Amino acid sequence: MAKLYVNPHVKKGHINPELQGHFSEHLGRCIYEGIYVGEDSDIPNVNGMRTDVVEALKEIRVPVLRWPGGCFADEYHWKDGIGPKESRKKMINTHWGGVVEDNSFGTHEFMELCRQLGCKTYVNGNVGSGTVQEMSEWVEYMTFEGVSPMADLRKANGHEASWGVDYFGVGNENWGCGGNMRPEYYGDLYRRYQTYVRNYNSGKPIYKIACGANAGDYHWTDKVLETTFDHGNGFMNGMSLHYYTLPTNNWGKKGSALEFDEKEWYRTLKATLKMEELIKVHGSIMDQYDPDRRIGMIIDEWGTWYDVEPGTNPGFLYQQNTMRDALVAGINLNLFNKHCDRVKMANIAQMVNVLQSVILTDGERMLKTPTWHTFHMYQHHQDGELVESSVETKQIGLEEDYQVPDLTESVSLDKNGRLHVTMTNLSLTEDREIQGIFADTTVKNVKGEILTGKMQDHNTFEKADVVHSEAFSALGVNGGKVTFTIPACSVLHLEVEV
Ligand code: AHR
Repeated sequence: MAKLYVNPHVKKGHINPELQGHFSEHLGRCIYEGIYVGEDSDIPNVNGMRTDVVEALKEIRVPVLRWPGGCFADEYHWKDGIGPKESRKKMINTHWGGVVEDNSFGTHEFMELCRQLGCKTYVNGNVGSGTVQEMSEWVEYMTFEGVSPMADLRKANGHEASWGVDYFGVGNENWGCGGNMRPEYYGDLYRRYQTYVRNYNSGKPIYKIACGANAGDYHWTDKVLETTFDHGNGFMNGMSLHYYTLPTNNWGKKGSALEFDEKEWYRTLKATLKMEELIKVHGSIMDQYDPDRRIGMIIDEWGTWYDVEPGTNPGFLYQQNTMRDALVAGINLNLFNKHCDRVKMANIAQMVNVLQSVILTDGERMLKTPTWHTFHMYQHHQDGELVESSVETKQIGLEEDYQVPDLTESVSLDKNGRLHVTMTNLSLTEDREIQGIFADTTVKNVKGEILTGKMQDHNTFEKADVVHSEAFSALGVNGGKVTFTIPACSVLHLEVEV
């Protein structure tokens, strides 16, 4: 029996809802078809946003949405995406599949989508191929209330009031697709560009995010901070980190989303667990410059990246989603909770039809992926207080170099005084008996829900409900102790009334 220790009396930090954020890019069928179908579509929609997708996203309480990229952001010129749709510029999306981008989804449409979702806005600006003026004017267009050329233009385009921009990214992956820069050069550009990301609404300053590192590129984090960190509050609020989980360590042959064996299962989970090392090491570099942890670590791209589904456009990054992805999501969301003192936002890549999506669509059809179900169970952590917890684990796996702990967990206290325990069992074969011990606490009641199955289980448009969560009631309660058995290959949520 493994012991799970929880001390609800020791609070470890606030869990920003944004730790369960999302990312949407003009890439493949993420925006077009996946989210936006236009007002004239036969697919039911509100102002062009498909109703089925918006409803499914509201069920997981999407807290924040990042847009328009990704690599697309550093090629995006926002003025192409405003005004009458028939006169918007058409362009080739050179990064992603060479398809025509007609700019029918632009700033107004993004803001409308966030309004429908009830989520915060995270707009990513263009440093790689855009000017300071262009970025500055975009901020003015979106946020300035008074009389000004850009505010007047917005009004002429039918939106009288300004919108709020909660988060603004100053470039994306500027070490790569965003301009192939060196960190010192980007650091200097960051200093300059961010100056013109004005706070027109002083009551609600924009949270400015610098482009951070790819995976284990610690040199980037160090040099960008060294170049920028002689400024005070508000100069840089966040710094990004991108890390994708590949079953293999080979970008040429990443592995299939659906066809994988047990070895690949553990290799994938081992790869995803690297996230903790990245948070700790980048975090310790940040601590050297920012010991008070004013700068948030913003993991604005994470998730699995497999070979595209056979027969689909290689530039569209469309992949299926199995129980393996549900576990990857559960492991990462637990990690983000555990490091909520530094991690202030995380955005899964990407929301619909691209990489590790929560939703897949096929024309008018839609399905919720196993990853959606993990987000659905974990939403109870949003805005909670992380409490002290730990679980006894053992190392498991089929190869010496790819051993993983069998269990991961995190626990939070919500505003109504209920505890939420989320746990993953990474083993493919072994159910694990757990004794939860709640320090100095009497447990009144516990209810649970579970997502479990075989490793390759997934939902299809024909069978959209193969993987779904179910009530979990095999729970024994005795004073401050709760006993249960978490099945192999599963994600669990317990709500504990104390
Ligand atoms: O999410 C797909 C791509 O991955 C993004 O456009 C880019 O930022 C990253 O390399």
